[in-house]
Amino acid sequence: MEQRTIGNSALKVSPVGLGCMGLSHASGTPTEKSEAVKILRQAFDMGYILFDTAECYTGINADGSISYNEELVGEALKPVRSQVVIATKYGVHHAEDKGLILDSRPEVIRKSVEGSLKRLETDYIDLYYQHRIDPKVAPEEVAGVMADLIQEGKIRYWGISETTEEYLRRAHAVCPVTAIQNRYSMMARWHESLFPAVEELNIGYVAFSPMANGFLSGQYNQNTKFEAGTDYRSFMPQYTEEGFEKGRELLNYLQKLSEEKKATSAQLSLAWMLGKKKWIIPIPGSRKPERLQENLKAAEIILSAEEINEIDGKLNQMQFLVFGGNQAK
Ligand SMILES: NC(=O)c1ccc[n+]([C@@H]2O[C@H](COP(=O)([O-])OP(=O)(O)OC[C@H]3O[C@@H](n4cnc5c(N)ncnc54)[C@H](OP(=O)(O)O)[C@@H]3O)[C@@H](O)[C@H]2O)c1
Repeated sequence: MEQRTIGNSALKVSPVGLGCMGLSHASGTPTEKSEAVKILRQAFDMGYILFDTAECYTGINADGSISYNEELVGEALKPVRSQVVIATKYGVHHAEDKGLILDSRPEVIRKSVEGSLKRLETDYIDLYYQHRIDPKVAPEEVAGVMADLIQEGKIRYWGISETTEEYLRRAHAVCPVTAIQNRYSMMARWHESLFPAVEELNIGYVAFSPMANGFLSGQYNQNTKFEAGTDYRSFMPQYTEEGFEKGRELLNYLQKLSEEKKATSAQLSLAWMLGKKKWIIPIPGSRKPERLQENLKAAEIILSAEEINEIDGKLNQMQFLVFGGNQAK
């Protein structure tokens, strides 16, 4: 399988990475630990190299205990540690109401990195992202801590999630940034404005929620029931009646395209971004091994530049509701 390099780093990864979040967080009651470990090992056997997690990806297990996503990743990948790229994140904690508490003070990052290393059962993190910009801490200060952690061998590279161009440039000037991890899908294209900067600085773009939280797979409809509260799709705008109404044109279009390409809609939605730029790496998530396989195989579907342009042209004419769509564009 083709491999991709993340930015100007030495990290070579599968073109599609694995978002591990849903095993513990935001997708309903967490997957039972031994089952989750099994799924992650299956993913490695399929060819996934990049595994994405975060300090704050936690959930309440059926027995009331806490599922720490990093622990699942750590246990599953320990036997193959040197063959995988583990990315995790700091700087975000979840409030009771599911709002985000942002805290990237140096002393907090220092504590976070030790906790992540422990839960991941490793002595280094390949790619350490600031999960969200903390308006109270300057990018230079955060980048300074990252430079120290790289020097100490605790992390190999660092990145920023949901960054702006200004923040990225200021941080990058202090300690080179290897990747940004921002939302990106056919329904969420507002960060394309960052592409020129990413290209200029030779940074990777890791695309999170690349299938608009599964919506683009076309496997769901207004009657699909998600676990209230714990499965975030239960309150995402694209999954409402109006969301399906507005998204219908895109879903139909994707279905038509995927039939032409003998692929699935999920694969098409990933192949579209993989075909755009060599430095884009989507990290879809799933709890189901057959879907992990399906998503990874998206890399085998090749779209020409003309086909991608044509899709973009169609997308430009559509309007949809999507989670994250009310954020600054
Ligand atoms: N940096 C950030 O702030 C941030 C935010 C959100 C997510 N992320 C990262 O991005 C990763 C992926 O994001 P995401 O989970 O929000 O969105 P996503 O990958 O677009 O969608 C995942 C959802 O789609 C379903 N799905 C996956 N493949 C499918 C397929 N082939 N057919 C039908 N349904 C499919 C999954 O359900 P099943 O499990 O039932 O298959 C899952 O609920 C996360 O795991 C996390 O690592 C980062």
